[in-house]
Formats: sequence, C-alpha cells, structure tokens
Amino acid sequence: THQWRGLIEEYRDRLPVTAATPVVTLLEGGTPLVPAQVLSERTGCEVYLKVEGANPTGSFKDRGMTMAISKAKEEGAQAVICASTGNTSASAAAYAVRAGMVSAVLVPQGKIALGKMGQALVHGARILQVDGNFDDCLTLARELSEKYPVALVNSVNPVRIEGQKTAAFEIVDMLGDAPDIHVLPVGNAGNITAYWKGYREYAADGLATRTPRMWGFQASGSAPIVDGAPVLKPQTIATAIRIGNPASWDFALAARDESGGLIDKVTDRQILSAYRLLASQEGVFVEPASAASVAGLLAKAEAGLVDPGQRIVCTVTGNGLKDPDWAVAGAPQPQIVPIDPEAAARSLGLLDR
Ligand code: F0G
Repeated sequence: THQWRGLIEEYRDRLPVTAATPVVTLLEGGTPLVPAQVLSERTGCEVYLKVEGANPTGSFKDRGMTMAISKAKEEGAQAVICASTGNTSASAAAYAVRAGMVSAVLVPQGKIALGKMGQALVHGARILQVDGNFDDCLTLARELSEKYPVALVNSVNPVRIEGQKTAAFEIVDMLGDAPDIHVLPVGNAGNITAYWKGYREYAADGLATRTPRMWGFQASGSAPIVDGAPVLKPQTIATAIRIGNPASWDFALAARDESGGLIDKVTDRQILSAYRLLASQEGVFVEPASAASVAGLLAKAEAGLVDPGQRIVCTVTGNGLKDPDWAVAGAPQPQIVPIDPEAAARSLGLLDR
C-alpha cells in the first residue's frame, strides 16, 4: 500500500526528530495542489491552490501540531496550552487526544467560528473564553506556560514552524521547482515564516533552483504589518486572522524582503468576493481567512501588477465547513416542495426547457 505516512515520516531527515521521538500523527500533510482554472484565466498565469483544509482537522495547523505535540511528548509534557482564533485550538485538542495529553485553549470570547469551537469541545479540550482578543490570549498562554507545567504549542514554539515548512517541500516536490510567487494570508505570521524557511532550505540543498516571491495579505481592519504599528482593536469577518500584534512580525518582514515579495491588505468585501469565487467557480470551499490570499492575488492582477505566464501558488489555509455562516448568509432559502416530481421540476425550472 502507498498511504501517505504523515509529514514527520515523509520528511523525517529535514525535521528535528530522532528515533527516540514518539511520533504523534493523524497522517497530516500530503494535501492537494489543485490547478485553478478560473484564477489562471483571470491572471494569465498558471495558478494552483494548496488546499490545506484537506488536513485531518481541516487546517494547516496540523502540520505544526504533529511536530509540537510529538516534541512535547518526547519531553515528558502531560498538558499543552495554546492561544487561538480557532484552528490552532482544534488541532491542539485533536493531537493531544492522540498523545494521551490534556489540552487547554484560550480563545477570544465570541470571536471564533462555531465549527472550531465544536472541534475543541468534542476533542475534550479545556476551553477558556478570554475577555480580550487573540493577542491578549497569547500573552496569557505564554505566562501560564512559564509559571505552570503546561507546554506552549503556539507558533512561537519553533518546532511548529518546522512542521509547517513541509508544505513548501510538497509544492516543490509536485511542481519540480519553486513557483514564481507564493501567496498566503497573514495573521500571527507563523505560516509565511514557515513557507519561506522551507523554500530556502530546498534551494540551499539544490532541490529547487530558486525561491518564490512571498506575497502575504492581511485583512484591512487587522493589518499591523502593513500599517506599521500594532492594532489594538483588530476587526475583520475573517476571525482566523483577527490579530493586532503578530508574534512573528519580524520573520514576516524578513520573508517579504529577502524574497523580493510584499505584504499588503485586502478588505472584508474583497475577502468575501474571493471566498464566493473559490466556492462557486473553482469548487473549493474555504473559510474566509483563507480567501485573503486569493483576494490579494486578484487585486494585484486587476492593478496590472501580475506579469502573465508566471507560476503562482495560493495557500488556502482552512476548510469552509469550519465557518459556514458566511456561505448561508445572504443566500436565498432553498424552496420547499411536496413529494411530487412535477412540482420539483417546476421549482428547478426544468419545465420551461
Ligand atoms: N488562515 C487560517 C485559516 C488561520 O487559522 C490562520 C491562523 C491564518 C490563516 C494565519 O496564519 O497566523 O500563521 O499567519 N490561525 C491561528 C489560530 C492564529 O489560532 O488558529 P498565521
């Protein structure tokens, strides 16, 4: 059989694990790199979507979490803690179950999507809703991990970045080289840091001839890196990236500058429009934050800033099922029909054909 073995086994020689590391895995990674036909036509480029919602808990966080929980277990931890806008907590809770550990998660009160809350609950996490935003949650989680015997599994933990960098390896392995541009949403800025590390490592070892330009996009109401200062009250419908003071800010700037890339912002309106386009025209259902990458690419293309003929990969970071409210909102209620083929046909407009 040829089942994908999970990213630690697939990339063992490129990760900080030894034979003594207990591998805690849900066989994450190996996600689809889907050619995006409509986006390719719109940009005149060859555009792919790296569909990270296909990971076991529905987001890219599983890449970092298999590493973080495996290393925590190796070090004898019995409990883990994280701050989260939802996806990290869902992932930490699931991997803690696999490891036989207790998980505690701190989330901003009322600001995480229902699907993510459901995941943390059903996996048995201890959940605290903090009367503050993500940045406050992270400060609190850091303090607790320093004072009490709980291991911090946020992306400020460097092994998280190690796991997440494997997405860049997978892309180069599939395409045969790095793309010209890699586009992704930016929140706490761990993922852009991780991809950049992965691309650089492959290029340094001769497995790619080049590195891509890294293009990151924040939501305009939560765009501290673009605006050049922390945002005290971050706002956006893309709750996953509602972050005002990213922990990996400096690494994100390094990724941007070393790669010749950019970090810019997109409005909630642009995010929702890309979200609907992905679902209705590419057949890929992502959560709103994930659509920030595609929204950014489309905005740059419309501004004439994307030269045709390039190979471009957009990471779509999380599954649409996590936050279905935006799919339902504003959509017409499906019609109710009796159990009658003619009535059903009439409602579907089939009689007029
Ligand atoms: N997309 C999704 C779906 C996310 O959940 C996150 C971050 C990002 C993008 C941004 O990635 O933080 O590495 O720049 N979610 C974190 C969480 C903050 O708690 O789940 P980043």
